[in-house]
Amino acid sequence: MALLEVRELKKNFGETEVLKGISFDLNANEVLSIIGSSGSGKTTLLRCLNFLEHADHGCISVDGKRIYDAADPATRAPKAIHKNRTNFGLVFQSFNLFPQYSVLENLTLAAMLKAKESGEGKINKKELKEKLEQQGMELLTRIGLADKKDAYPCMLSGGQQQRVAIARALMLTPRILCFDEPTSALDPELTKEVLHVIKDLRAAGNTMIVVTHEMEFAKNASDKVIFMSKGVIEESGTPEELFGSPKSPVLRSFLMQ
Ligand SMILES: Nc1ncnc2c1ncn2[C@@H]1O[C@H](COP(=O)(O)OP(=O)(O)O)[C@@H](O)[C@H]1O
Ligand SMILES: [Mg+2]
Repeated sequence: MALLEVRELKKNFGETEVLKGISFDLNANEVLSIIGSSGSGKTTLLRCLNFLEHADHGCISVDGKRIYDAADPATRAPKAIHKNRTNFGLVFQSFNLFPQYSVLENLTLAAMLKAKESGEGKINKKELKEKLEQQGMELLTRIGLADKKDAYPCMLSGGQQQRVAIARALMLTPRILCFDEPTSALDPELTKEVLHVIKDLRAAGNTMIVVTHEMEFAKNASDKVIFMSKGVIEESGTPEELFGSPKSPVLRSFLMQ
């Protein structure tokens, strides 16, 4: 069984149909890259998976459990959404770190809130803080930024900020980590260091969905690729299939750009 099953997701903004029935599966430990022109609905799809938007139609299952069904009000209730969104993490194009907090605080704050909500925070606040700080330091060491734990986001390069944003998302231990063009605000050198971190996460077995303009990344660092065009999945398959023998004329012309 696939870890993630997405069926017939549709999303309209007013009269505009932005997602027109998106269906795909993703297995555990796999990386899915989503490519496609600007405006094809990639960000909207990630936002629907993370419940920042609510799909108008269709359903989302994780581990065989239906966590969202547009036709089932119970799965759309704020409490259900709040609980089920923890299946997903999202790293944005623009890092979105809290500027007033240090790197380590950026990592521990959201995790602290989550632990408090689950009741863990009541046990011993000091112990919990120490545990999360230790987890945060382990992640910072993994991404090569342990020495920046007390720095503020404005003191870091864009690439470093994005690596911290990735570590922050990992602190919440999502089942599926999503990236929305994580390197498009970065110059080529910094892009490399961020893609390197994502490749390391793949090697460590993380399940990820990466919306990207980096065709080399999609080709070499993913298990599946989806090409979106005008709100539909125009073509999907292995990187070899999509890049080696693209079938759809729209994909062919996209790849020639
Ligand atoms: N909140 C919104 N309100 C109205 N239209 C939106 C909104 N978000 C996205 N859109 C429209 O949906 C389409 C797809 O956008 P988006 O998902 O951002 O595409 P992509 O990420 O592939 O560039 C665009 O035409 C965009 O203008
Ligand atoms: Mg986008």
